[in-house]
Amino acid sequence: MSQEPFIPYGKQNISDDDIAAVVSALKSDYLTCGPRVDEFENKFAQFVGAKHAIVVCNATAALDLTMRAAGLGPGDRVITSPNTFLSSANCAAFVGATPDFCDIDPATYNLCADSLEKMWTDDIKAVVAVSFAGQSCDMPRIHEIANSRGAVVIEDASHGTGGGFEIDGTAYKQGGHPWADMTVFSFHPVKTLTTGEGGIVITDNDQYAKSLRQLRTHGMTRDAEEFQGLGSDAPALAEKGPWYYEMTELGHNFRITDIQCALGLSQLARLDQITQRRRDIVAKYNAAFAGLDFLETPKTLRPQDANHVSWHLYSVQIDFEKLSKSRTAVMGELRGKNVGSQVLYIPVYLQPYYRNTYGYAAGKCPNSETYYSKALSLPLFPSMTDADVQRVIEAVKNLNQ
Ligand SMILES: Cc1ncc(COP(=O)(O)O)c(C=O)c1O
Repeated sequence: MSQEPFIPYGKQNISDDDIAAVVSALKSDYLTCGPRVDEFENKFAQFVGAKHAIVVCNATAALDLTMRAAGLGPGDRVITSPNTFLSSANCAAFVGATPDFCDIDPATYNLCADSLEKMWTDDIKAVVAVSFAGQSCDMPRIHEIANSRGAVVIEDASHGTGGGFEIDGTAYKQGGHPWADMTVFSFHPVKTLTTGEGGIVITDNDQYAKSLRQLRTHGMTRDAEEFQGLGSDAPALAEKGPWYYEMTELGHNFRITDIQCALGLSQLARLDQITQRRRDIVAKYNAAFAGLDFLETPKTLRPQDANHVSWHLYSVQIDFEKLSKSRTAVMGELRGKNVGSQVLYIPVYLQPYYRNTYGYAAGKCPNSETYYSKALSLPLFPSMTDADVQRVIEAVKNLNQ
């Protein structure tokens, strides 16, 4: 067993400034519903270049809200990638819509636009385009396919905070381009920016923004223009003083605290630095692994995207047969050298709930199943030192011994 410290596959990055920001929030007048929530929303919207940002308690809640704001429900089909965390599909089920899956592109491991076009049916009312590992899908194509058929495009950029892509010399941020109606980011600790737990929805659409805000807090409104009244059967109760609110639809409490937003604000101030370090580590890995015949490194959709992607994961494809070792054995061998690894993701439709509820079965998305059978995520987090990166490289290169 190695005596060197363990390198996990992912880890949060907390600075002294982050800690000071949280302490300052704790000493302030507001622990929740205070000024740091508004400030984080404003600065985040500005950062990505979008009109509205609605911050919530996690990205699962954010995805749920996008479904409700878009008015999706029973009878609607929502397409997402099978190569994702459960939430990208569960959000459709939460509102009674049918989650369905489109196979991935074997090069980028992201939802394949050609397959989406081929599988299209009239009941598809939304596409949740997941930015796997931080890399955006082909958003212009996906938007063209979905939008021309009247469906909403939700970008699940939970992995991609701080990242983007480049088309014809123009750089776009995830959430800051014209090819999604709403974009969601996650602020879970292993992601590129953290608030402990947290999520946000970005949109340029005023109506969606209004609805997302209201649904975040119980479906309540204090906006007089939205009032419907308590009913003409209760005239004595009709006074609408400063205390007055109405609940006009059914919402949740998906709020986030000022304590968390203080952390988010502090992290946002150095997000570009964080994403650059992640890109540098990925470049080192790609160069070191280029000659290995048992391993495929991740590829960007466009070569120039490599300068913009905010990599959350470094997921490689390993030919375990060539190595004559199982994935469990490989993970054990790496663990023996104190190098962590993880497997992301099991195709969501193979989960018992999805098989039992929707009748999905193996073979539905063959590229996604092949990807999963070879997938291994190697350590990637900004506080990794160059020596840590080198240790991972050596451990991986020695797998064929
Ligand atoms: C692609 C994707 N979408 C959504 C989520 C849900 O995020 P959260 O944990 O903030 O609810 C995750 C979490 O890992 C994710 O990876």
